[in-house]
Amino acid sequence: MRTSIWFCVVLLLATILSSNLAAAKSKRSARSSHAKSATGAPEMGQSASTAPACQIPAGTSVWRNELGSTMTITVNPSGGVTGSYQTGVGCSVGVKQPLVGSCNGYGITFSVNFIGCNSTTAWAGTISKSPSIIRTLWHLAMGTPPAWNSIVAGADCFVPNSDYPQGLAQCSLSKPKQVQ
Ligand code: BTN
Repeated sequence: MRTSIWFCVVLLLATILSSNLAAAKSKRSARSSHAKSATGAPEMGQSASTAPACQIPAGTSVWRNELGSTMTITVNPSGGVTGSYQTGVGCSVGVKQPLVGSCNGYGITFSVNFIGCNSTTAWAGTISKSPSIIRTLWHLAMGTPPAWNSIVAGADCFVPNSDYPQGLAQCSLSKPKQVQ
């Protein structure tokens, strides 16, 4: 009788111990599947998931919006974005202004310093792949003394240069698809 009680206790302890070991092992393997720095955080530019850094293929592409602006962007494999922006309206029309940003999955942000115009604009948008569209919202901040009306906001829709201008019709016709 006593032997079987001891047997049960030992069995119970062994079960608890092995389930703790299994939990620790699965935690360790989940952590090691991501790129890490010495601090345990993902390295800059390294993805914490297996999704591509950016849904716009790495390389250079040219986009145009409904204001006739032209944006040339180069996306690097880590999702960094650099390029130039030629606005079709406002100050410095047609002048190539510097653009920097980043792209992560279906999201993209970029900003332009309108040199000589005393203004900067930042866009945040989503990428649609079929049809190819970047839908954005933007804020333009004037560099002149801050006033209650020194920030302007709006929306821009960009299509590949090869689809311009007919592709712009898709901006209002198609709605963003649900992505899993
Ligand atoms: C300025 O007038 O201060 C500089 C030009 C700003 C142009 C704005 S940026 C947001 C919107 N989208 C464009 O393509 N052009 C205008």
